[in-house]
Order: sequence, then C-alpha cells, then structure tokens
Amino acid sequence: MKNREIEAAWDYHNGTKHSYQSIRANQHYLDWENQPIAFKIYPELAPVPLPEHLSSSDLPALRAISSSGAEPDHLIVPTSELLAEILFLSAGITKRRKYPGGEMLFRAAACTGALYHIDLYLVCGDLADLEAGVYQFSPQDFALRRLRAGDYRSVLVNASGEEPAIVNASCVIVSASTFWRNAWKYQARAYRHCYWDNGTILANLLAAAAARKIPAKIVLGFVDATVNQLLSLDTQREAPLSLVAMGEASSRRIGLSPPMEPLVFETAPLSKTEVDYPAMRTMHEASSLESAEEVVKWRDGAEKAEDKRIKDNGGSEDRLFALQPLDDAALPRDTIEEVIVRRGSTREFSRESISLAQLSTMVDRATRGIQADFLSSPEASLNDLYLIVHAVEGVPPGAYVFRRQERALELLKAGDFRREAGYLGLGQEIPADCSVNVYFLADLKSALERFGNRGYRAAQLEAAIMGGKLYLAAYTQRLGASGLTFFDDDVTEFFSPHAAGKSVMFLVALGKSAKRKPVNP
Ligand SMILES: Cc1cc2nc3c(=O)[nH]c(=O)nc-3n(C[C@H](O)[C@H](O)[C@H](O)COP(=O)(O)O)c2cc1C
Repeated sequence: MKNREIEAAWDYHNGTKHSYQSIRANQHYLDWENQPIAFKIYPELAPVPLPEHLSSSDLPALRAISSSGAEPDHLIVPTSELLAEILFLSAGITKRRKYPGGEMLFRAAACTGALYHIDLYLVCGDLADLEAGVYQFSPQDFALRRLRAGDYRSVLVNASGEEPAIVNASCVIVSASTFWRNAWKYQARAYRHCYWDNGTILANLLAAAAARKIPAKIVLGFVDATVNQLLSLDTQREAPLSLVAMGEASSRRIGLSPPMEPLVFETAPLSKTEVDYPAMRTMHEASSLESAEEVVKWRDGAEKAEDKRIKDNGGSEDRLFALQPLDDAALPRDTIEEVIVRRGSTREFSRESISLAQLSTMVDRATRGIQADFLSSPEASLNDLYLIVHAVEGVPPGAYVFRRQERALELLKAGDFRREAGYLGLGQEIPADCSVNVYFLADLKSALERFGNRGYRAAQLEAAIMGGKLYLAAYTQRLGASGLTFFDDDVTEFFSPHAAGKSVMFLVALGKSAKRKPVNP
C-alpha cells in the first residue's frame, strides 16, 4: 500500500517547486537537436481512418462547458462518428502554422510548451461501424491504430473495482503520457504537466460529450499495472493518467474479455536520446493502486469530504462581490465546436477591462461540478479559486478568494497587483497584462489524508479541468486566456494568511487579447 506513504507526494511536490532561486540556478537548456516528436507512432500498425465530418451541436457552448456530465436528457449511445468528433475536439489537430524551419501543429486543448505528450486510447465493445477493440488515437493522420481486437472493457471493470460508470460504459477513453515528450523541456516538473495537460484535454472532452448528450465520468481509481498491460505501456517511460467512462451500454453486463496476451509493438523513436527523470516515475509508482480491493477502499476517500465552505475571513458584506453571470437565455449562441476550433492561448493581453458579467460567467460555468469518482457531488471540490483582479468593471483591483457556495468573490486585499502578478507568473508579461489571474490552490494535506499519494493526481487534475473550462468559457465570450506556470511558495504567501498551508495547482490568465498591430499602418 505504497499509496498511503504520503511523504512521496510531498517530496515530489516540494522537489519540483519553482522559486526565483531555483529558476536562476537551473542549468537546463533546450537541446533543439534532440527535441522529441509530438506523436506516438506505431509504424507496423495500419490506420483505421476516422470520419472527418464535424457536426455542429445545438447546445450553446457555455452550457456544454458547465455540464457536470450527469444530466443529459436523452442519452445517446456513442457511434464511431460521434467518438471521432469527440477525439478531434479533445486532442485533434486544429491549427497548422508554418514557420521558416517547418510547421507547428496545434491541438484542440492547450498543452504546456505545445509538446503534446498525452495520447488517448479507446477501449470499446462492438459499435455500429467499429469492431470491438483497444485502439490508440493517432491525431497525425486522424485515425485509430488497433492494439487489440475484441471487447476488453471487463479488464477496466475489474481494474476500477467495478466502478459503476465503467461497468455501464459503452466505451472508455484512457489518457496516458509519454514523459520524455514533455520532460525534454520541463524536466521532473513534467509529472505535474501530465495532469495539467490531461485536464485541459478532458475539459474539452467533457464539453464535447455533453454537447452530444453522451454521459461521461472521470475515473482516477484503477489498478495502474492492469491498464499498463492493456495498452502495452512502457512503464519506465509512460503512465496511464485517467479513464473516462463514456455512454451507457444496455443493462446487460459486459462479458468476459479475451485473455490479455502481452503485446510487442515497435514505436518510432522520439528523439536521438532520452533523458530519464526518476522523480516522475517514483511519484507515479508511489501513487499507484495495486489491487481492485485497494481501488474500492480508495474511492471511499470521496465520501470523506469536509465541509468545503471557505473559512470566513471575518469580512463584512462590502468585501463580497456576488457573481453576476449571464443567464441561459443571454448566452452567446456559439457552439462548442466553433469555440474549440478558434481557441488558442493569448500571447499578448491588452490591459483593458472585462465586465463583471464576463468574469462571473467564466467562473460560474467552470465551477459547476465535474462527474468524477474522487468527487462525491457537484459541490465537492479539492481546490479553491484565488484571483488577482487587475481590471474588471465594478470590482476593485485586488486579491480575492471565490466563495463557491455563496457564488461570490471575497476581497482579501485591495490594490493594483500587476507587478506582483507578473513576478508570481515567473516574471512573464501575460499575468501582468491580463485582466484577472485565476489560481487554483488545494489543501494537499487533507487531499493526501483522504486519497493517499493519489490525491495529488486528483487535485492537479481537478484544477486543470476547471482551468480548461475557463479557457473555453473565455473563448466563447471572445476573450483571451492562457495557462501559466508560477513560483509556488510565493503565490501561497501572496494570498496568505487566507491561503496559508495550501499548495498551488494551476494558473490561468484571462482578459482581452491585444490587437495585433498592422505591419504597414
Ligand atoms: C498548464 C499550462 C501552462 C502554460 N504555461 C505557459 C507559460 O508559462 N507561458 C506561456 O507563454 N504559455 C504557457 N502556456 C500556453 C502554452 O504554451 C500553449 O497552450 C501551447 O503553446 C499550445 O498553444 P495553444 O494553446 O495556442 O493551442 C501554458 C499552457 C498550459 C495549458
């Protein structure tokens, strides 16, 4: 039961913090000659092409973004066309940009450094036009590669300790990282990025599924070794991150899977050489679950949620700013497909103000709950939102905490903190020039007590999913967004005493994009 030895999570987290000193002392440089490719390529496997048509859903994007995945009225059984759309909207190539040395391929969800180290796999029974199997999604040619033929869903039913959504799923989407594809740039901190980048991918996936009325639930409780074996992952270099149970199969229980023979597939080399960062593997192993019984017990952690009411700061009413989100009737009509295809990360913000309605709509839609096995209800959360407001009409600049139950921002300290925000976001211009920085902080002590080391995975992932929803909610309203990295302890210090003891999981900057200046005015 390594998972209960929680020193491992603290060691990893503390050992990968950024500070002013750690950044200055780090000798790491980017070895461009050895940059890994952004795809996992199986040269021996034939592509199973996916249909390229992208339908337009009728739900306004913001409703799809805020759906907890639980309430679709007419449940739809996923078909291969619908799955192709969902895979495209989660991890497909949405943009190509030529530059003198080549072409950059950008994907549907924001991912650190555009390095795209996460692959999606599909485990399904027979669908109308896709045979039962275990497939890898290959964005480079928009195809599936079949790793196993046959219905292997019951392997995941067992691995998840019979998690009800997995038991009933018509298919499961599994995310897995190949560490080196991200560690090339970010070294051991890349284990955090596994959950950051998977979170933005899953925010898209959940919205795309909700817009298609396909129920989807995130499952983090599973026996890692079984999933490794099913997907034939190289455990020294790769790790399974999450399962998403999709759709509801007919009430008939999934039959037994064929035997799980070991697979040996060649994959194209990623780069000339690879550097191992053992801290990532150590953290992954220490947060692995070893048996179905351990998974079942692990899930009990979800029921142990404390009252998450943000502690009262003794603040008077005039420090509270109630969210004023757009109601359903006033939402932009843009669909989630339009929003995902136009999404990018804002490279330059204009310092202009956004309205309280815009900020409220983003925060409100991103925090209406996620269906996940580590959260007992839509109100439950492992993270708290802390904001640095620079320019929001009707809200004084300052540091705030979001009171989730009251749907209100509470002012912690007033002031113009552009300079401080720029510093906290690793000295970049984006966090200084945006309108609002939204930080996600977790009480890691409590998360690790409830879930062991795997609570670290859950806290990072939940923050990143909400961060991904903020991205989408910003782009729906034609605002800009960018994920950011940060100086860990300085952020906690900045929001203290309120945030004392909490750990920073994720940061997104929101605001108005600066208009590109014309070259020849
Ligand atoms: C969690 C996260 C952290 C990021 N951190 C930074 C950052 O510190 N600085 C920056 O300029 N961009 C940052 N980005 C933006 C990525 O570089 C960007 O997502 C990537 O290049 C892909 O481009 P796209 O989002 O426009 O598709 C971050 C993105 C994410 C998701």
